[in-house]
Amino acid sequence: MIIRKLNNAENPPMGLLLTADPSRVLVEEYLEKGDCFVAEKNREVIGVYVLLPLKYDNAEIKNIAVSSKDQGKGIGKKLVKHAIEEARKRGFNTIEIGTGNSSLGQLALYQKCGFRISEIEKDFFTENYSEEIVENGIVCKDMIRLSLKL
Ligand code: ACO
Ligand code: ACO
Repeated sequence: MIIRKLNNAENPPMGLLLTADPSRVLVEEYLEKGDCFVAEKNREVIGVYVLLPLKYDNAEIKNIAVSSKDQGKGIGKKLVKHAIEEARKRGFNTIEIGTGNSSLGQLALYQKCGFRISEIEKDFFTENYSEEIVENGIVCKDMIRLSLKL
């Protein structure tokens, strides 16, 4: 498997990106402002993330996703670690990531990669998404933000 930056002439894997964030408008905004990286195996895209520059030398991992048949094999962890290294190489000070209060697996993964909870945006999901999101039997309401000093 290789992880590489998608060049401008290539189409981003929109179906996969939308599994990480159901808002096409937001995904398109992140793609325009950030860089899209893909994990490929035998030329098939099986993973993706967008590295987005923020204010104050911070970067954020957006729309990280692994195709459902390849989940649970360590690819998500490789993508998060790749993003951390990429942000470090580019001279960012801090890398951030955000997920829902109900995303227990994602919270486990990000903390296992060294991220620490920094902030909670109360009612982010109830206010910004029209459809209710339920995961692990928990209603997704708040955005848990995590960060890692580079
Ligand atoms: N409790 C404890 N640990 C858990 C749990 C849990 N409930 N769920 C997962 N983990 C751990 C695993 O044990 C593993 O850690 P380990 O290697 O130490 O055993 C790690 O979390 C998961 O590792 P991977 O196999 O690398 O993850 P995967 O390849 O499945 O990718 C991802 C994770 C990207 C979240 C994938 O499940 C996915 O694409 N989901 C759908 C899209 C999505 O939700 N994306 C994130 C949205 S938030 C955002 O984009 C910033
Ligand atoms: N992912 C998703 N759901 C989970 C997970 C997980 N990793 N772990 C537990 N749950 C859910 C279960 O599915 C269940 O929900 P459900 O009924 O909707 O299926 C619920 O959480 C657990 O339910 P119970 O079986 O009622 O819990 P239990 O009797 O095991 O008691 C307790 C939980 C008290 C935490 C017990 O495990 C314990 O004594 N642990 C050791 C002491 C401890 O840690 N105490 C808490 C310290 S913090 C404090 O005291 C405030």
